[in-house]
Amino acid sequence: MAAILNGSDPQAIRIAAEKLRAGELVAFPTETVYGLGANALNERAVAQIFTVKNRPHFDPLIVHLAAKEDVSQYATEIDQRAVALMNRFWPGPLTLVLRKRSIVPDLVTAGFDTVALRVPAHPVTLAFLRETKLPIAAPSANPFGYVSPTTAMHVQDMLGDAIGLILDGGPCTVGVESTVCALNEKQAVILRPGGVAVEAIEAVIGPVCLGSAVQPDRRSPGTLTLHYALRVPLSLIAVGAPLPPSQPGERTGLLLLKPRPIEGYAAVEFLSRDGNLIEAATNLFAALRRLDNVGLGRVIAESVPEHGLGRAIMDRLRRAAA
Ligand code: TXA
Ligand code: MG
Repeated sequence: MAAILNGSDPQAIRIAAEKLRAGELVAFPTETVYGLGANALNERAVAQIFTVKNRPHFDPLIVHLAAKEDVSQYATEIDQRAVALMNRFWPGPLTLVLRKRSIVPDLVTAGFDTVALRVPAHPVTLAFLRETKLPIAAPSANPFGYVSPTTAMHVQDMLGDAIGLILDGGPCTVGVESTVCALNEKQAVILRPGGVAVEAIEAVIGPVCLGSAVQPDRRSPGTLTLHYALRVPLSLIAVGAPLPPSQPGERTGLLLLKPRPIEGYAAVEFLSRDGNLIEAATNLFAALRRLDNVGLGRVIAESVPEHGLGRAIMDRLRRAAA
C-alpha cells in the first residue's frame, strides 16, 4: 500500500517534492486525472514510470510545468498560436506539442523531436511543481490500457503496491484527460480530444485538424484503440436510443447521460442529472470503474452528443467499446 497524504498540507507537499527530487515516483492530483510523476530530467526516474504502468516505450509522456514562462526552457519555435493558447487556457486542461529542446530526455518523448507540455490548474499540482522546481513527466496513474484515475483511492487500488506515495487532492473536477494539440507543424492538429473543447481552441487559433483525419504515423501513440478497456464488455448505443431489453439471467449494466425510467438492469449509472456534458465528463471514469467492479456480464453505454466535452467522452467510450 502507498501512503496517501493530504495535498493541501504544506508538509505533505514538502515530503512529496523531496521524494521526487530523490528520483522516486509520486502520484499526484490534477484537475483532469491523477498523474504518476517523475523528475522529467532524470531518465532513471522516468524509466520507472514505464515499468510501473507497463507502458510501451513508444508512447511519450506529458511534461508538467509550474508556469508558462518555463516553456522556453524545454521547447523552441513557440509561435503566436502557442502563445495565444497558453494565455487563454493555462493553467488548465490543454497540452501543447512543440518542438523540443535537447535538455528533454528522449525517453520522455519516445524519440520524437517534439515534447508535450502542460501547466495544470489544480492548486495541489501547482504547489507540488513549485516546491520541486522541476518539470514533472507524468502519464495518467493507471496500468497501461485501463481507465484513468480520478480519485486517490483509484490510484491506490491499481498501483498502490508499486509506488510509495500518493498526494490526495480530492476528486478531479474535469474528469477526462487534457486536450492534446500539436503545433509543431503549420496545421494545428488535435491528437486527443479532452478537457478543453475543440470549439474553444478554434475560437482562439482558427480551424484545427482532428487527429483521426491525419496520417496514422503523425498520430499520438497514446490514441491507440486498446485504451480504456474494462474487464466487462461494453457496447455503445446511439444518443437517446431505446434500451435493449435485459436478458433473463444476465447481469447487464447501463451507462446513461441522464436519468430515465429503467427496469430490469443490474446496475445503472447516470453521468449527469440533466445531460450537462461538463458534469458528465467529471463523472465518466468513476462510473465506468463502478460498473466494472460489480460482477456484470456486460455494459450498455448510451452515446452522448459530440460537441463540447461530448467529443472527449465519446472518444473514451468508443475505445472502451473497441
Ligand atoms: O490530463 C492529462 O493529460 C493527464 C494528466 C496527468 O496531466 N496526463 C495524461 O497522460 O493523460 P497520458 O500519458 O495518459 O497521455 C499523454 C498523451 C498520449 O496520448 C501521448 O501519446 C501524447 O499525450 N503525447 C505525449 N507526448 C507527445 C508528443 N511528443 N507527440 C505526440 N503526442 C504526445
Ligand atoms: Mg493515460
